[in-house]
Order: sequence, then structure tokens, then C-alpha cells
Amino acid sequence: MLLEGKNSLITGAGSGIGETTAKRMAAEGAKVLVVDVNDKGGQRVVDEITAAGGTALFLHGDVTKVDEVDAMVAFVVDTWGSLDLAVNNAGLAETPGLMHELSPEAWAKTIGIDLTGTFLCMRAELRQFVAQGGGVIVNTASGAGLKATPGLTAYSAAKHGVVGLTRTAAIDYVKQNIRVNAVAPGTILTPAMSSFGDEQVATWSELMPTGRMGTTDEVAAGIVWLLSDQSSYTTGSVLEIDGGYMQA
Ligand SMILES: NC(=O)c1ccc[n+]([C@@H]2O[C@H](COP(=O)([O-])OP(=O)(O)OC[C@H]3O[C@@H](n4cnc5c(N)ncnc54)[C@H](O)[C@@H]3O)[C@@H](O)[C@H]2O)c1
Repeated sequence: MLLEGKNSLITGAGSGIGETTAKRMAAEGAKVLVVDVNDKGGQRVVDEITAAGGTALFLHGDVTKVDEVDAMVAFVVDTWGSLDLAVNNAGLAETPGLMHELSPEAWAKTIGIDLTGTFLCMRAELRQFVAQGGGVIVNTASGAGLKATPGLTAYSAAKHGVVGLTRTAAIDYVKQNIRVNAVAPGTILTPAMSSFGDEQVATWSELMPTGRMGTTDEVAAGIVWLLSDQSSYTTGSVLEIDGGYMQA
């Protein structure tokens, strides 16, 4: 198993990409703290991991709140003795529109969760990693963090910022046995995306070189590889998991 004996946390794991990734991490032998503001979803994921023979716990945590973020790291260390792996995945996008119509409140909400939330999580995790002598972080960025994403000003700015946080931390901590990478998923078929309806899913699929959207399993596989020792020489990278969309 790729993550045998590792203690981990993942934010935004109550649904979608985070849910599938948490399950895959547990299946690969990691103990997993599922963190989300969605208590029902988070507890369901933990119950399903436990029923499948894995080890997981749920902790309510809002990535925009410093005390709750610090508490999630402390919880893993207090419960399992160390924090080895962290996936900063919680995120959302604002309602699409043009920049001149974007309210400062909508901007602040997206930046607060996607960018500041990722910073607060990395800050707490890195403090622990420095103290214990190592660790691995994977951030969920997006293709929107690598190229223009029409109509998504705040989301694109936030995800470009997540790429910057990833690359900067990778170099700042490279001598301390800490690796920091990100994934940049393309358009992934999560329950939230399916809820837009078959017509919208067909439109998104046509935009992809592959002619289909990606699955949460395909993203989770990349995250688990980046968490594992198989990627021991990989740091500061942004792994595109998008069926070739960035290159088309
Ligand atoms: N689905 C896609 O096509 C796609 C593409 C690229 C990147 N992403 C990124 O993947 C990540 C997961 O997205 P998803 O598509 O699985 O969405 P999702 O809505 O299914 O999952 C996101 C989870 O984050 C949680 N969350 C929201 N705000 C939070 C907060 N403040 N603190 C803690 N948890 C919070 C939600 O409750 C939810 O469970 C996001 O960062 C998203 O930007 C998604």
C-alpha cells in the first residue's frame, strides 16, 4: 500500500474530489482526518471508509478560521502522534460573471476560502512539519490557476495564488524534508457539476480534447501519487489532470 502507516488530513473531504481522495488515501493505508464545514457529508465519508476497513475520523473545520485550522493539525498530532500528509482541497467558485460586476463580497468569499484558506492550512501544517522533521502537502489548484478562465475572476485569481503558494513553499522548505505539490484538475464530473444537468455536462465534455469530463478517481489517483514516496523527487510541481485541456 502506498500510504501505509501515514497520518493525514484532507479538507473539503465531505464530497466530490475530496471525498474520493480521502477514500483512496485510506484504502492505501493512511489514517485520515476528514475536515469539512459540511458535517453530514464528512461523517458519511468517515462511515464509508470505516465500513470498508479503513481508519478515519471527522472534524468540523472551516479553512477560513485560524483557530479551527490550527485545531485540525493539533487533532491529528494528538490522536495519532504526527501529521505526515496534508491535502488542502476545500474550495468553491463564485457565480460566473464579468469582473466589473463582481461584488467585493463575492470576491472576498472566494479568495477567503480558496486562497487564504489554503495559506492558513499550509501555515499550520508547515509549522508541524518543521517541528517533526518532514511531511508532504498537496494542494488542489485548478486549470483556472494556470490560464484565463472567462467569467471566474476571483476563482482564477485564487487558484493562480494557490500555485504561487505551492511553488514558493516547495523551495523554502526543500531542505527540510518537506515536499509541496499541487494538482490542476480540468473539468471533473462531481455531484455538484452533474447537478447542472445533462446538457451542461455535454457542453463541458465537448470542450475537452478527450470528449469527456474527468472522474474524481482520476484526480484522486494523482493526489495519492504525489503524497506517496513514489514521487520522492517531485516538489513544486503542478500536475495537470485534465485530459490534455491545457495543451490543446
Ligand atoms: N470539480 C471540478 O471540475 C474542479 C476542477 C478544478 C478544481 N477543482 C477544485 O477541487 C476542489 C474540490 O472541489 P469539488 O469539485 O470536489 O467540489 P465540492 O463542492 O464537491 O467539494 C468541496 C468541499 O469543500 C467544502 N468546503 C467549502 N468551504 C469550506 C470551508 N470554508 N472550509 C472547509 N470546507 C469547505 C464543501 O463543504 C465541500 O464538501 C476545490 O478546491 C475546487 O476548486 C474542482
